[in-house]
Amino acid sequence: MNPSTDSNQPKRRTITIDPVTRIEGHAKISIHLDASGAVATARFHVTEYRGFEKFCEGRPFTEMAGITARICGICPVSHLLAAAATGDKILAVQIPPAAEKLRRLMNLAQITQSHALSFFHLSSPDFLLGWNSDPAQRNIFGLIAANPELARSGIRLRQFGQGVIEALGGRKIHAAWAVPGGVRSPMSQETRDQIRSRLPEALAIADQGLTLFKQLLDTQLREELEVFGHFPSLFMGLVSRDGHWEHASGRHCAGIRVMASDGSLVADGLREDDYSSFMAEAVEPWSYLKFPYIQALGPEAGSYRVGPLARLNLCERIGSERADRELLELRQRGGRVVTASFLYHLARLIEIVACLEQMDQLLDDPEITATHVRARAGVNCYEAVGVSEAPRGTLLHHYRVDANGLIERVNLIIATGQNNNAMNRTITQIARHYIHGHNLSEPLLNRVEAGIRCFDPCLSCSTHA
Ligand code: MG
Ligand code: NI
Repeated sequence: MNPSTDSNQPKRRTITIDPVTRIEGHAKISIHLDASGAVATARFHVTEYRGFEKFCEGRPFTEMAGITARICGICPVSHLLAAAATGDKILAVQIPPAAEKLRRLMNLAQITQSHALSFFHLSSPDFLLGWNSDPAQRNIFGLIAANPELARSGIRLRQFGQGVIEALGGRKIHAAWAVPGGVRSPMSQETRDQIRSRLPEALAIADQGLTLFKQLLDTQLREELEVFGHFPSLFMGLVSRDGHWEHASGRHCAGIRVMASDGSLVADGLREDDYSSFMAEAVEPWSYLKFPYIQALGPEAGSYRVGPLARLNLCERIGSERADRELLELRQRGGRVVTASFLYHLARLIEIVACLEQMDQLLDDPEITATHVRARAGVNCYEAVGVSEAPRGTLLHHYRVDANGLIERVNLIIATGQNNNAMNRTITQIARHYIHGHNLSEPLLNRVEAGIRCFDPCLSCSTHA
């Protein structure tokens, strides 16, 4: 805001919410009111800066999986897998099929644990305890007091996902298990059986969450559906070769799809290697988080959403029975292309079901326990881009290396950043609906924060400009 214009209009005000609570990382929201007390705009300011892109320079590319996994305690696996995929291309190898399947298994576990955290721990207190409940109680501890069974279930579902990651990688977080060329260690029959034995309970918890949330949507969360970031935009993410839901690059993946809200394809089969030819990043002085967009359409028309809702919009079907039933119901509720950001929560629960069903399919594949899991080669390519679907959306790692494999340049395109424009539009829409002049109260401001939580941003991951 320009202060010189401000001094002539003393009634203009800015409300600040600092920090935004129940998100991963540090951010604040400012709500700008005009002279009449109406909301002009609301902005989401990311106030932390981590800068991994710079300090990876000079490191061997083989260490990138281990280094970038330390970017974040919530999404280490996403960086691990994107870094390993980039490393495969620097080696210019086709990784062994078992390695690809094991990486997929770990990504499914990662999406499960992250979505469980978002829904059960961070967001469900708003829905279950209510917007008007005591803010000191409106958190996981309040939930444990009010609905201990549900809170415990959510914790167990997250533990299940983390347990799979730990069983495969040897540790719960920061496991440098995926490496350029494959993975470090195969999976034993024993580990496979152990994971399989825990799937039914995990699926029952996901069902419990789905039943509860759909019931809330039908009874008391109708306004949220309309007001929490309901607008047309593009959607971007990976799809599989048969048009199914996809979460990883590799043999099954058909590349990046971009879809408009009317269901038309803006682009399809885009290769991650070409991202700089179709994506651009805008910068605003008031945030460390960049604003990516589809270059040809410009920063506004080209802005897109990524993550669970985008992935479900982009695919024809998911490819497993229960998840496809839920997808059909989602489309009955929100249309073929769902534009209500509040339904990111429902999309997360459906993706948990999809992950668990696809884990089951992978565990039935005899090749999953094959012992050849790593291809070896030297530096065959000096520049490469790897892609993976992180829980929050499409994640790209771009490295340039010298002949010795030392990193010269890194660019990370993080899922959360790609939802930046959508997050700002969402909080502006919510603020305009609920806030007029002086009717400010904590429950109203919490609704604005909850608009951000729809996107489950991970800010540790996303500020590397
Ligand atoms: Mg970047
Ligand atoms: Ni993260």
